[in-house]
Amino acid sequence: MRYGYFDDENREYVIERPDVPVSWTNYLGVKDMCTVISHNAGGYSFYRSAEHSRITRFRPNGVPLDRPGHYVYLRDDKTGQYWTISWQPVGKDLKKAKYQCRHGLSYSRFISDYLGVQAEQLLFIPVSDDVELWDVKVKNTTDKDRKISIFSYVEFSFQYIEIDNQNLQMSLYASGSSYKNGIIEFDFFYEPWTYHFLASSFHPDSYDCVRSLFLGNYRTETNPIAVEQGECHNSSELGGNHCGSLHKRLTLKPGQEIRVIFMLGVGSREKKGIPIKEKYSDPNAVDKAFEELKEYWQKKTSIFQCKTPHQGMNTMINTWTLYQSETCVLWLRFASFIEVGGRTGLGYRDTSQDVMSVVHTNPEKCKQRILELLHGQTSMGYGLHLFDPEVFKPKKVPEGKFPTVVPTPKPEDIIHSLEDVCADDALWLVPTICEFVKETGDLAFLDEVVPYADKGEDTVYEHLKKILDFSAKYVGPRGICQGLRADWNDCLNLGGGESSMVSFLHHWALQIFIEAAEYLGHDEDVQKYKAIAEKVKKACEEVLWDGKWYLRGFTSKGTKIGTQESEEGKLFLNAQSWAVYSGVVSEQRGKMCMDAVNEHLYSKYGIHLLWPAYSKPNDDIGYVTRVYKGVKENAAIFSHPNPWAVISECILGRGNRAMKFYDAILPYNQNDIIEIRQAEPYSYCQFIMGRDHTAFGRARHPWLTGTAGWFYTAATQWILGIRLTFSGMVIDPCVPDDWREFKLQRKWRGATYKITVKNPNGIEKGVKSTRLNGESIECPIPPQETASVNEIEVIMG
Ligand code: GLC
Repeated sequence: MRYGYFDDENREYVIERPDVPVSWTNYLGVKDMCTVISHNAGGYSFYRSAEHSRITRFRPNGVPLDRPGHYVYLRDDKTGQYWTISWQPVGKDLKKAKYQCRHGLSYSRFISDYLGVQAEQLLFIPVSDDVELWDVKVKNTTDKDRKISIFSYVEFSFQYIEIDNQNLQMSLYASGSSYKNGIIEFDFFYEPWTYHFLASSFHPDSYDCVRSLFLGNYRTETNPIAVEQGECHNSSELGGNHCGSLHKRLTLKPGQEIRVIFMLGVGSREKKGIPIKEKYSDPNAVDKAFEELKEYWQKKTSIFQCKTPHQGMNTMINTWTLYQSETCVLWLRFASFIEVGGRTGLGYRDTSQDVMSVVHTNPEKCKQRILELLHGQTSMGYGLHLFDPEVFKPKKVPEGKFPTVVPTPKPEDIIHSLEDVCADDALWLVPTICEFVKETGDLAFLDEVVPYADKGEDTVYEHLKKILDFSAKYVGPRGICQGLRADWNDCLNLGGGESSMVSFLHHWALQIFIEAAEYLGHDEDVQKYKAIAEKVKKACEEVLWDGKWYLRGFTSKGTKIGTQESEEGKLFLNAQSWAVYSGVVSEQRGKMCMDAVNEHLYSKYGIHLLWPAYSKPNDDIGYVTRVYKGVKENAAIFSHPNPWAVISECILGRGNRAMKFYDAILPYNQNDIIEIRQAEPYSYCQFIMGRDHTAFGRARHPWLTGTAGWFYTAATQWILGIRLTFSGMVIDPCVPDDWREFKLQRKWRGATYKITVKNPNGIEKGVKSTRLNGESIECPIPPQETASVNEIEVIMG
């Protein structure tokens, strides 16, 4: 069953049936203000932090789904009938009213057609102003004059998610609303820097700021009394719950369309509301801002484009997977319908990985994130698992003590000990920083001095060495890295036990660092880290091979994890893919262990994380044994490791297998089985219920998952094969053998490369010849002149 389709030309996903089983969300905002919005205009806005700076309220995990939101009500003033431009919250009979939602790159457009009125509500946040614009068009498609009332609706939040949900004895009296000059202002009297506003391009006929008056007692957003009656109460109050409704009566001639703009913004009426109202009351300014947003994404998407025989890959890579990856870097993990603002900050491993995938499209933001992560690294070399980078910035001290201000921890309060270290966290940063340098050519970045979280400072280059040294030091009795609090798998809690994945990661990071050290001519480091890498490799090969595949590790009592000998948790995906990806293993063992993945872990919805699922709690292994079978880390199809399997197959040269793995979990391919998948088909999800669960195939937790970045990397760098080294670009694809030709566009350091890859003999991997602008050349291809456009032809063979 399908609910919508991909509109590639407009880079939109079009939802034609709004009664999808779960919220299908989108992200608005590319700088500081963000809105998470569903296909039914449910959702919330915040400024920078969804925890500490909430603009609108959301009742997560609630009934009905997705409430409240950013709604526009329309009312036929002759008959009293009313509806919303988004299907919900009024929810008219879908047989009588038509609705469409178009989720695009940082905008969502809702369209309705009911009772001879066509209406549209476009929501977006301009690149350069902290305001959400609602560009609303209402058209009379009948041959009679129509009198239509229009009402906006948002519910304001008490700024801090915590006091929004508790301590109401205080928060209910802490904020007030007022109306003046057509602008609703929502204020915090004792926190005099906090204001939000709602304005419109018209002078309202009535307004409401008091939620209970607009909605009416024992009513909801479905049937607000103000809309029913056709007029607001002109209410505002100091204290209580607040909403923003501006109402206007429109008269529409036959065929006439009226356009109005609503503006939901950050700042006070005087400082921001008035100038913003003035600016965006002009529809040309709205059009211009929307064009700017389109250009913003056009610039990004043009950096890498592919035209392959695989339509799903084209759609996802050219638009959606990049968009999802960028979203992860911008909004991190704590602003969605799943994580609703309960936390703020960076997850060390998550952000390090996310950044890696978009260094080409967002180098500025990536650099900021990298610096934040470096500052969150301790002088011992490990990273702070989850921290708010604001802690390290000088704090603007407000006057007085304000009860709602969440106490900011001091840097020393957030530095956790070894016991809470995730053994993988900082290792991800080494390849990430190297990718950043390869992309930008900014070698000087490695010499920048950045403080450690606890004490001292070092150059970026020295920070990297500390990370590698930490992993070299914290090994168990067999020479494999200790698992500590967790490795990549939050639920594998091995303490002093050992984790093969961390040793593989260590080896991978070492290889990449050595490449950098060689390029920089740091010979001593090259020698030192080569010796460490050799030791790691030896330990891995001697200790971890289980006959058919690699072990996942050892408990602190020395019991093997992920062995044929055990009944449950015999085989783990990450131990196999990382054995290959790390460069540790021989081709023969690599093929064997990945064959085991194909045999035991693969399914039509993706690859399971482990097999068989655990059923008995075992705290030596960790929390994974206390998760329901087939759910999340206990043998679900955990999405994030799936691209590592794709990469490994590409390394092994098996393009058909790589594509089989890519295809199984590709959301695009599940567009027509929403009765099974449920989640949005334009976004990877954190996990998909595994075969041991009754809901096998149901996808959960869209958007903010490392899956996006890694699938972007797997497809662009490994299947399509464009990778950067310090000295140039390598083109080395690994594709299905029925691909005969594909085209790529890559922009790199100011030059454009138009690449045609031909595969006359239908092979999976191997390059016979490469030509740059007609001349034969060996990869890596050095960076070409800025602004040059270069033709590259690659013949596989
Ligand atoms: C979640 C976490 C991520 C972790 C993964 C596996 O996605 O955000 O950090 O690696 O689960 O436990």
